[in-house]
Amino acid sequence: MDKDERLAYLKTFANLSQSETKLLADPCSGINFEMINGMIENAIGIMPLPLGVATGFLINGKDYILPMATEEPSIIAACSKAAKIARSSGGFRASTNESMMIGQVQLVSVAFPEAGLKVISNKLKLISIANKSSKTVKATDINVKWIDDEVSSGAGKMLIVEIIVDTKDAMGANAINTMCEAISSELERITDGEAIVKVLSNYATRRLVKCDAIFRKEDLGGERIVDRILYSYSFAYSDVYRAVTNNKGIMNGIDAVAMATGQDFRAIEAAAHAYASRDGTYRSITTWKKTNDGDLLGELELPIAVGIVGGVTNVNPLVMIGLKILGVKSSSNLAMVISAVGLAQNLSAILALATVGIQKGHMKLHAKNIAISAGAQGNLVDIIARRMIHEGNVRVSRAKEIMLSMTDHE
Ligand code: MEV
Repeated sequence: MDKDERLAYLKTFANLSQSETKLLADPCSGINFEMINGMIENAIGIMPLPLGVATGFLINGKDYILPMATEEPSIIAACSKAAKIARSSGGFRASTNESMMIGQVQLVSVAFPEAGLKVISNKLKLISIANKSSKTVKATDINVKWIDDEVSSGAGKMLIVEIIVDTKDAMGANAINTMCEAISSELERITDGEAIVKVLSNYATRRLVKCDAIFRKEDLGGERIVDRILYSYSFAYSDVYRAVTNNKGIMNGIDAVAMATGQDFRAIEAAAHAYASRDGTYRSITTWKKTNDGDLLGELELPIAVGIVGGVTNVNPLVMIGLKILGVKSSSNLAMVISAVGLAQNLSAILALATVGIQKGHMKLHAKNIAISAGAQGNLVDIIARRMIHEGNVRVSRAKEIMLSMTDHE
């Protein structure tokens, strides 16, 4: 499809209005300086990223088109390819547990263990103070834990009060930070201590998402390929140098959907990498096994804290369109879609790595970029790119020569 056809398709698929479709076609027209100046400090303009869509995703029996904002060639193609393969065995199955986040208040100069016991006996009062500070999310519980000063700053034993917050469809960061600050003076009073750090934890282990999918051996190229993929998984499980690259790839997919839907992708990244090291060693985020039928079963489990209300989701019109294209109805729905794109990316990457290598796919788009850099336009871009790949000479100087020879010909 060309650009207009893609937009027309999306308009019908996601029931976009005329003005939403127009905004997608000309994204800068929807963002004015006041808007960005209200978002950040010392604003001077915007930094655009390409926005594309991954297709073919079947998640829990529903069809999705995934908006993805990314500058890296091949990611969207890779995710769409894996989605297509997963379809033939029923697509992705995803689930979430709950939407709880943790806010932390650090208390120093407190008596062990009395201070902790006092906090617990004042739980209801503290929860009520926290809930008065927020209309959007709800504090449900308070826990305490003790940690020892490990950097010898003389703090000794510290009391960490953790407030458990049901964020529902919000990511919740602002509300939780407000809650932590709201309860801190009462905590100081109760414990006779000093509250230092008051902030949410981005390690959202109570917002876990699980996703799995079966990729049939025939669709991957046979059982030998399944075995080769399993070797590559074994490498990413056992070696931190490979695990980082493997997980970087997974985040290629996750971040791109997160960016297109206005999420705090740094928070997702930080939590994902901590979770990848939860047994003490940094490993692949995904796990891969062979089924009894010789097919490949992929699983991904991650803490994913996202929101479909609040933050930029209410401000940036393109984010609203991204969410509309996705058609998600809750933050857990969005988290499930994001887990599927992570699993999909990893399948495509390890399939390529275990077979033809990743450069083949990359080269096609790279060659197109080179042709564009050399000044090619329209269908010349494809023609020049294909010729450079055929010759094994992908350079701007070669693209210019080809272009010149073609114009000379005319
Ligand atoms: C490139 O951005 C991502 C990959 O390197 C991931 C991987 O090696 O699994 C292809």
